[in-house]
Amino acid sequence: MPSSATSLDNPPELNAALFSGNHPRMTGTYPHTRLRRPRASAWSRALHRETILTPADLIWPLFVTEGSGVEQPIASLPGVSRWSVDGIVERAREAVDLGIPCLALFPNTQADRRSEDGREALNPDNLMCRALKAVRDALGDRIGLLTDVALDPYTSHGQDGLIDEAGYVLNDETVAALVGQSLNQAAAGADVIAPSDMMDGRIGAIRDALEDAGHTNVQIMSYAAKYASAFYGPFRDAVGSSGLLKGDKKTYQMDPANTEEALREVAMDLAEGADSVMVKPGLPYLDIVRRVKERFEVPVFAYQVSGEYAMIEAAAACGAGDRDALVLETLLAFKRAGCSGVLTYHAAHAARLLNG
Ligand code: PBG
Repeated sequence: MPSSATSLDNPPELNAALFSGNHPRMTGTYPHTRLRRPRASAWSRALHRETILTPADLIWPLFVTEGSGVEQPIASLPGVSRWSVDGIVERAREAVDLGIPCLALFPNTQADRRSEDGREALNPDNLMCRALKAVRDALGDRIGLLTDVALDPYTSHGQDGLIDEAGYVLNDETVAALVGQSLNQAAAGADVIAPSDMMDGRIGAIRDALEDAGHTNVQIMSYAAKYASAFYGPFRDAVGSSGLLKGDKKTYQMDPANTEEALREVAMDLAEGADSVMVKPGLPYLDIVRRVKERFEVPVFAYQVSGEYAMIEAAAACGAGDRDALVLETLLAFKRAGCSGVLTYHAAHAARLLNG
């Protein structure tokens, strides 16, 4: 530290620290240093801004339903609808126009195709596969397609995996089904396989199978630290599993109290071949994002989940906050915490705001 950083006005202990070089990264002292000085005008705030949010940071989750020309609004997710495949293609075009690089697709499987073992997940002609092919046909590689891997949109009990007589979700049997589901999605054109099921060992098993099948460039974004959260309610309405689900998902999703365990989950998924990792939910778990980023220095994503979206919409609807400002501030917070990108139902709206 040059001696010019010291001042006769400083307390002697501070000058001693500055001279010794034993100080923390020290800013100057008032009034020579006024942190409000660079905040005084918009040009200066722009120049000093440390974090930027762009449409390229966003992944847009979309819900697919049967039919054509169908739009079904989701009551618990105001402003979000399920779309039939043709509508998904329109949304995909919209995303490209807005500069959103990737969609995340979720199917609302019709009731008579749900079963105890969720075998519809393996059907090469299921709703998800038809949506993937339609977007790929329309847009080629101008948009990324991320697919959720878990059985809950396909099971008659709403759990993410295969269950035993007691209702316990079986790990290894489920992993085998998830491998089949992943290969099915990759064959239909998925770019990023995103396992959201929290079974142990599924990343390695899926990676091996993708390599063997020649899908060497199909990525895996692992929902590595996914918590058993109260924020998923509207999503379960959207995929139609909320009425089916008995009990909870606490024997596989993580305890919201835990951090060390999240780091172990991430370490294992990276060792098994995950290209990127996700933390979920988002805003209440930014401490996890930051710790994962600092520990592993890999691409980290977060999912601003359905309940978080609904809370922002509820706040805006009752006048507790300005919707646009809430949306942009929360998304910026993910970037500041260390995220490479965010899955958010506000993606199109946020991109429109960012594009002016
Ligand atoms: C299912 C899945 C869930 C979400 C994404 N994939 C719900 C759950 O685990 O019950 C939640 C997303 C959201 O709430 O927006 N495997």
